[in-house]
Amino acid sequence: MKIWILTEGKKKWGIYPYQRFKAEFRALGHDLELINARDLEIIEPVEKTDRVLYQSRYKKLPDVVIPRMGSAASYISLAGLRQLENLGVFVLNGANSIAQARDKLHSIQILSQNNIPLPKTMLARMPLDSEWVKKHFDFPLIVKTVAGSQGKGVLLCDKPSHLEDIFHLIGKTNDERQILILQEFISASKGKDLRVFVIGGRAVGAMLRSAGNDGYKANFSRGGSVLNFPLNPELEWLAVESAKALNLDIAGVDILMDKEGYRVCEVNSSPGFEGFEQATGLNIPLEILRFISLKTEGTAL
Ligand SMILES: Nc1ncnc2c1ncn2[C@@H]1O[C@H](COP(=O)(O)OP(=O)(O)O)[C@@H](O)[C@H]1O
Ligand SMILES: [Mg+2]
Repeated sequence: MKIWILTEGKKKWGIYPYQRFKAEFRALGHDLELINARDLEIIEPVEKTDRVLYQSRYKKLPDVVIPRMGSAASYISLAGLRQLENLGVFVLNGANSIAQARDKLHSIQILSQNNIPLPKTMLARMPLDSEWVKKHFDFPLIVKTVAGSQGKGVLLCDKPSHLEDIFHLIGKTNDERQILILQEFISASKGKDLRVFVIGGRAVGAMLRSAGNDGYKANFSRGGSVLNFPLNPELEWLAVESAKALNLDIAGVDILMDKEGYRVCEVNSSPGFEGFEQATGLNIPLEILRFISLKTEGTAL
């Protein structure tokens, strides 16, 4: 099979997921390439051919595209991916689903429509009315950007005056990257969360992530430690339903542990899996390949 990993900008093979895809896919005789989504020529309506203009040359279309642009996915890259979809290439995940998942508020609205338990969340409107916020939220509360990743756009805010400081610092802006949401801090989950990996509508496994120090962000990329966590029906249902609601074939679902039960924190459309493979012993590229084979050939490996 001919498989493309679609990246945001020019990328090298050294990054963990690319290395793992390369090792596993090539061992099974598949042809794998890293393709910079920004270098795809976008011309619509598409000619229904088996090729596409890439870096000014015609290139044969692959059988499958695995986009790995993550939350950095730009307008141009998503347009490139959408064109590949128009050309009939099997993609996981699709451009619209990636755009939706990247926007934390939009995803929360969709999850909420699907009755998924969530932390109470509010769009921060400018100018900020802190009396209004105090009415709805206890402090500390979480402030996050709608499009952050790796814990970079997440902040724990202790008191109303800090919240005012944050908003004064940012000032008035029309920059969409600076749109913030306020979120109930699930204190029972402080520094810990569960990451469930969903592939093709199936929860393949889960890990417990813990922030190394006294921190409140459990991201593996921030040095958090990881442990295998046995799946249970509730966790599975939540993760699979969340991925389904956001139309994601591949999803990393972050789940907080509240006193009364689980709450979905966010859903990632191109989850890293270094920590996950370490914790669970699972082979993620192989799990993805099994799903691809099932979809394209009607049989798993
Ligand atoms: N509402 C919350 N209550 C408690 N902890 C949270 C909350 N939101 C985020 N966190 C912590 O911060 C981490 C990063 O937040 P997340 O929304 O997943 O952003 P990112 O996209 O940067 O991973 C989570 O893994 C979790 O440990
Ligand atoms: Mg996260």
